Amino acid sequence: MKKYEQLLLQNKAWVEQKNQEDKSFFSRLANVQKPDFLWIGCADSRVSANEITGTAPGEVFVHRNIANMVVHSDMNMLSVLDYAVNVLEVNHVIVCGHYGCGGVRAAMGNKQIGLIDNWIRHIKDVYRLHQNELEAIKDNKQREDRFVELNVIEQVYDLGKTSIIQNAWQKRGGPYVHGWVYDIANGIIQDLKVSMHDNSEMPDVFKFEK
Ligand code: CO
Repeated sequence: MKKYEQLLLQNKAWVEQKNQEDKSFFSRLANVQKPDFLWIGCADSRVSANEITGTAPGEVFVHRNIANMVVHSDMNMLSVLDYAVNVLEVNHVIVCGHYGCGGVRAAMGNKQIGLIDNWIRHIKDVYRLHQNELEAIKDNKQREDRFVELNVIEQVYDLGKTSIIQNAWQKRGGPYVHGWVYDIANGIIQDLKVSMHDNSEMPDVFKFEK
């Protein structure tokens, strides 16, 4: 059997198991999705949103890219965000980074990889913002871990700077925007406690008029 065919086989086994557990599982999901969460995570194969949060299909709307970035000119991210916030009306948007992130590591280095260097530039901008704090950390692993955390926090702020999020805050007092970090070494997700649901702590220049 070819390696990819194994996936199709596993899919059949999964369908069988789901049907055994809950007869209406697929018919229920076929009609509607009403997730309460938008997940913005890294594309890394080890950080699958549903798996690590113990959630089922239908519970989390997901957007993933290299290093869980919120790039305000990224039409893909903006479209997902707009749909999740304004149509699905999720109450929580979670940016989840992870320690050992290859994108973040690459952003700390000077190696040229290819097209992706242009994406990684966005992460380097976060480094520059926090250069003093990061370079005061002598241990490489600790510095990298802190960079992962600061990158998540910055993406949470970047979400708050979008008109999509600010308009929703104004209109319905939500969603909450959260910053989390996942540890691939032990599976634990840590809340970085930077949750926001209004623009009060944002620098004035980013606040849209009401
Ligand atoms: Co990553």
